[in-house]
Amino acid sequence: MRIVLLGAPGAGKGTQCKNIVVQYGLLHLSSGDILRQERAAGTELGEKAQSYMDSGGLVPDEIIIEMMTGAINKAPDAGFLLDGFPRTVNQAVGLDKSLAANEMTIDFVLNLQVDDDVVAKRITGRRSCPECGAVYHIKNLRPKAEGICDNDGVELVQRPDDTPDVVANRLKTYHQQTEPLVDYYRNNGAVYDFDADGTPDEVRGSIFEKLDALVKA
Ligand code: AP5
Repeated sequence: MRIVLLGAPGAGKGTQCKNIVVQYGLLHLSSGDILRQERAAGTELGEKAQSYMDSGGLVPDEIIIEMMTGAINKAPDAGFLLDGFPRTVNQAVGLDKSLAANEMTIDFVLNLQVDDDVVAKRITGRRSCPECGAVYHIKNLRPKAEGICDNDGVELVQRPDDTPDVVANRLKTYHQQTEPLVDYYRNNGAVYDFDADGTPDEVRGSIFEKLDALVKA
């Protein structure tokens, strides 16, 4: 199964991806996570990406397409779940070309829908573990001990791009450059919309219900 998960910053893409990949045995490929790993490792790619990420803009398409199609080509036969990529129509065209060269297509596009004011609150309250990547929220998803990761006891951190000013830019970028992708996919294949304003469990339940039905069909 090859899936694209779309949604604004803070819509809950990363949160839901963790559920979906376990349930359906897919590889989770998050462009944001890969970029953050490159930055942490101090690679040339990470350095190139830094200023775009910190301002809430998008890393240039050619860099991202090469990075993500390279990762997709190593995915297992069971398939993959793309999180944060593609993010522009140009990236989607690049992805389609790369998949077509291997006689593949995207099977399903899942679109998480939630208002800007909700996602802004979610993002500014997010804390994550620099060690294992676990994601928490200061109100909605608290760790057992405040500020400490449940999995490994490491101190939680706030992403540098999760400040109110940068979040406002990320949302602007999303509406201008990523939202048009929904229409691109509606014209090219199956897009399934989900109300992402419920609890994480409610959103997960509606996604699993749809995917179970699609897998059986
Ligand atoms: P990226 O890391 O992809 O960030 P994003 O798309 O802005 O998404 P987020 O990770 O902020 O949110 P999410 O939807 O995963 O939400 P989460 O589940 O964590 O990209 C970062 C940057 O990298 C970009 O700005 C860009 O510069 C660059 N980049 C990445 N990909 C690129 C590309 N393809 N092209 C160009 N540049 C690219 O949830 C957020 C919070 O809410 C958490 O605290 C969570 O606990 C909480 N939460 C989740 N769901 C719920 C719920 N249902 N109810 C209540 N709280 C919830």
